[in-house]
Amino acid sequence: MIHKPSNIPNHIAIIMDGNGRWAKSKGKNRLFGHRNGVKAVQKTVEESTRLGVKHLTLYAFSTENWKRPQKEINTLMSLLVSSLKKELNQMLENDIRLNAIGNISKLPLSVQKELNQTIKKTKKNSRMTLTLALNYGGKEELTHAFKEIASKVKNNIISPENVDETIINKHLYTRNLPDVDLLIRTSGEQRISNFLLWKIAYAELYFLDILWPEFNETHLHLAIDNYQNRERRFGKTSEQLNT
Ligand code: FPP
Repeated sequence: MIHKPSNIPNHIAIIMDGNGRWAKSKGKNRLFGHRNGVKAVQKTVEESTRLGVKHLTLYAFSTENWKRPQKEINTLMSLLVSSLKKELNQMLENDIRLNAIGNISKLPLSVQKELNQTIKKTKKNSRMTLTLALNYGGKEELTHAFKEIASKVKNNIISPENVDETIINKHLYTRNLPDVDLLIRTSGEQRISNFLLWKIAYAELYFLDILWPEFNETHLHLAIDNYQNRERRFGKTSEQLNT
């Protein structure tokens, strides 16, 4: 039950953690965990859309995930391609726009192709933007942005004194996304793990012990409920907010 339907977070970001541990607890391999993780993604996307969340950003593959066994990387990549194929109609029906952030050009060509096609086919949709962070790392995003800015400064396109938060934001993969309101992480770990460093400056953080494949509508409601009971001061005092 959502208590205040009018105060739904505009942008929810999720670190989907615990697929491997969930599979292990069932005596299965990690790939089984990822396959069931996809089911939790489907539920979360559907419920977020229904609740009126405008932006949902999911950490699907980090710049560090390349260190995993090749077989696991291959499974994650093929799950991504098959999920995009399978979910296209749902996205069109539910007015969901797909977006991707990260160093996409380093992903396998099959993934890039499916991503680009889905992004193109859903680009007119406006109910919710679903952003997949793929080969994404917050530090890599900032490094990439600073490199571009440095090169523009060198070529006299930007003058150094004009570099401000707006200019930095314009060079991020996340430039078209608003700040994150609520960041959720499953599996009991209480870390940011290099996710959306710039956009989480004022995010409310919500950690829960559930493993990602177990995450469902009820957990999403609990997270939003918890968010609605926080006082977001953005540097002001409590008194200033209440006058
Ligand atoms: C974390 O669990 C999960 C991931 C690294 C990948 C998330 C991917 C999916 C849910 C499936 C594909 C995604 C989409 C959007 C279709 P873990 O493997 O780190 O678990 P562990 O910490 O228990 O080992």
